[in-house]
Amino acid sequence: MCFQRSLFGKPVPNLPPRRISVLLSTIAVLVVITLVFTLPSSIPSAPSLGRFTDHRISLPALPKKLPSPSILNPFRQAAHPPPVQKNSTSGEAKWFSNWNWLSPFSSSVTLDENRSLLPPLFPRAPIYTYYDHTAVKDEALKEAQNALLLTWRRAWWAQGFKPIILSPAETMNNPLYTELQMKDLNEQLKTDMSRWLAWENMGSGILCNYMTLPMGPQEDPLLTFLRNGKYVKLTRYSGLDNGIFVGSSAAITAAVKESLANKQAMNTTTDFIGTINDKEVDEESRTFEVDSKPDSIAYYDNKTVTEKYSKIAKEIQDDPAKGLQALNKLMISHLHTTWQNRFSDGIAVLKPFPEHMSAAVAPARKLADFLAQCPESPMPASCPPNKPKCNPCVSSTPLVISTPPNYINTSTLYTIGTVPHPYTMAVLSAFRDDIDVRWIRRESERDPWLTKLTKLLLGTGVSGAPRVVKFKEAVAGAQEMYHSLWVTPEKDLPHDLDWNFGFTIPRNATDRGKSETPVPGPERRPQPESDPRDGPVATPEEFKKEKDLLKRAIDFGKARSEPEEKLRGAIEKWNLADTEAWRFARAFLARSRVERLQWAEQEKKYAGGSGAERGKSEGWGRWFDER
Ligand SMILES: *[C@@H]1O[C@H](CO)[C@@H](O)[C@H](O)[C@H]1NC(C)=O
Ligand SMILES: *[C@@H]1O[C@H](CO)[C@@H](O)[C@H](O)[C@H]1NC(C)=O
Ligand SMILES: *[C@@H]1O[C@H](CO)[C@@H](O)[C@H](O)[C@H]1NC(C)=O
Ligand SMILES: *[C@@H]1O[C@H](CO)[C@@H](O)[C@H](O)[C@H]1NC(C)=O
Ligand SMILES: *[C@@H]1O[C@H](CO)[C@@H](O)[C@H](O)[C@H]1NC(C)=O
Ligand SMILES: *[C@@H]1O[C@H](CO)[C@@H](O)[C@H](O)[C@H]1NC(C)=O
Repeated sequence: MCFQRSLFGKPVPNLPPRRISVLLSTIAVLVVITLVFTLPSSIPSAPSLGRFTDHRISLPALPKKLPSPSILNPFRQAAHPPPVQKNSTSGEAKWFSNWNWLSPFSSSVTLDENRSLLPPLFPRAPIYTYYDHTAVKDEALKEAQNALLLTWRRAWWAQGFKPIILSPAETMNNPLYTELQMKDLNEQLKTDMSRWLAWENMGSGILCNYMTLPMGPQEDPLLTFLRNGKYVKLTRYSGLDNGIFVGSSAAITAAVKESLANKQAMNTTTDFIGTINDKEVDEESRTFEVDSKPDSIAYYDNKTVTEKYSKIAKEIQDDPAKGLQALNKLMISHLHTTWQNRFSDGIAVLKPFPEHMSAAVAPARKLADFLAQCPESPMPASCPPNKPKCNPCVSSTPLVISTPPNYINTSTLYTIGTVPHPYTMAVLSAFRDDIDVRWIRRESERDPWLTKLTKLLLGTGVSGAPRVVKFKEAVAGAQEMYHSLWVTPEKDLPHDLDWNFGFTIPRNATDRGKSETPVPGPERRPQPESDPRDGPVATPEEFKKEKDLLKRAIDFGKARSEPEEKLRGAIEKWNLADTEAWRFARAFLARSRVERLQWAEQEKKYAGGSGAERGKSEGWGRWFDER
């Protein structure tokens, strides 16, 4: 039988069976040859010289495209989320600290859309001071010392340390204490020896007087070295006497033993250093290494205060409690001045969409005003002891506050960013509150906030993922973290930002030293000296409407009715990068607060709770309670 074969409706010429078998065997041979040459690694080969000369390395075969790990991928396989870390929740903010925090989208790791991936918390190096809370009976003096201890704790905390106050309890815990008790020492030496025994009891670390404050940028080499927590030699610093010591556990123990064994010096000296015999010993075997005077550490000892701040020294002599309170004010003003000198380019209050963001960034702006203000000081033109040539704050030339639309990465500019939720952003940029899914899809752009913010860094035409990564670096990078603060407009500013900056932020703005009466309320005075780059400033009517819209957006976030959830879900999906940025900023701020509260809770029970904040921490007052 013979029939016409066809392929795609076209006739195919009939081939005799012998020809077909020739064709088939040719194909078979070709297939075998192809297999042999393309899969060399799959055929086991005997060891040969070729193995050692062949430089082609066969890599394990990877699938071309990994399945998307995003939790939005409906085909993703179910996996257990990583275990929840301790104390990793605060309100609605949740986080997971891990080294791979720079992944653009946290949920691909945490498998929980609400849990942000944050960088691991660096372990804070402990810094110890010694305070005998049982020694002083005068309440006013005790109060003044408490204020000094609080200033000390706050300044070192802001520099990335874990300040710990030691008391006689730690001294008594030291096995060497019995030896100390048997000695007949003068009062001053006894206190200093107690301090060293308390430190020795804690192991390695930093010991400092609570009149010793860090006054320099976080990047300072000495502060960086101290923060790393790895010390070998027992070191002191010339010019700082008893101000600060650093050492390893073994070196501290050796020094304390040497000191206790020195019977002669015990009669003649008043401090620990005096009991160590380093003078007649060659450099190699000295107990203390003495480093040069550091730039970034201020020590307000009796000598310094008497020489440089004689007004305060006199006050201390007349009335110790009052004098120490004045000294405390002076120290805080120096910390503030140091901060201001460091950010010579001023403060940038980010405002990516200047048209309708005035109300949203108003708290950030107010905070900037407070920070730019000259601190109250008993000696306004004075400089810290470690920086005799500082620029004291002068109210006629205050720190510049700008409101640029883009993030600028400079270490001399402090950035306060306000990160809105995409819904807040949409309501404000549309300037109406009846937006719906149709509006989102048809009229709104994707990730408008982040796109604008990172425009200077990344240009246009870059997708959301690299922008989010850049943003995360700007918020939580090891250096960037100290140059910026990121808040969300939906929540009030945290009340404890003092701990972030390391000094008391002045809370009554006399508007940057000018004699205008501070007018609260919605009518923000337009800034007369504002930079044209800062964009338009809202009129009072616009500002009022912005505030209403902002309030509406905040209420929207709280109410969880079904249609609103749906709209919120849609807007978050439309703006994945903006949402990720908002969650990240929220979680980062919340975690730093939780970290501090945990530490405060731990420390409360030691040293009679000295150095604690008395009463409730002072809020921001009427400025921020207008909503
Ligand atoms: C941390 O968690 C513990 C329990 O695990 C809790 O008692 C404590 O209050 C938490 N601390 C903070 C600051 O949330
Ligand atoms: C994330 O948080 C929102 C609001 O709190 C909630 O409605 C949603 O169910 C949460 N999602 C998950 C996966 O927990
Ligand atoms: C220390 O001084 C006291 C009296 O001032 C004296 O009795 C004692 O011998 C002195 N000790 C030493 C080791 O010099
Ligand atoms: C500080 O020094 C002055 C004189 O140098 C002295 O009179 C005063 O008692 C000292 N104060 C303290 C607390 O040591
Ligand atoms: C900021 O600049 C520093 C150094 O110039 C760089 O290492 C860092 O990655 C930059 N950060 C961002 C967020 O661009
Ligand atoms: C700020 O308030 C303090 C008390 O809280 C007051 O002593 C001080 O005079 C005020 N400063 C200005 C400039 O109003």
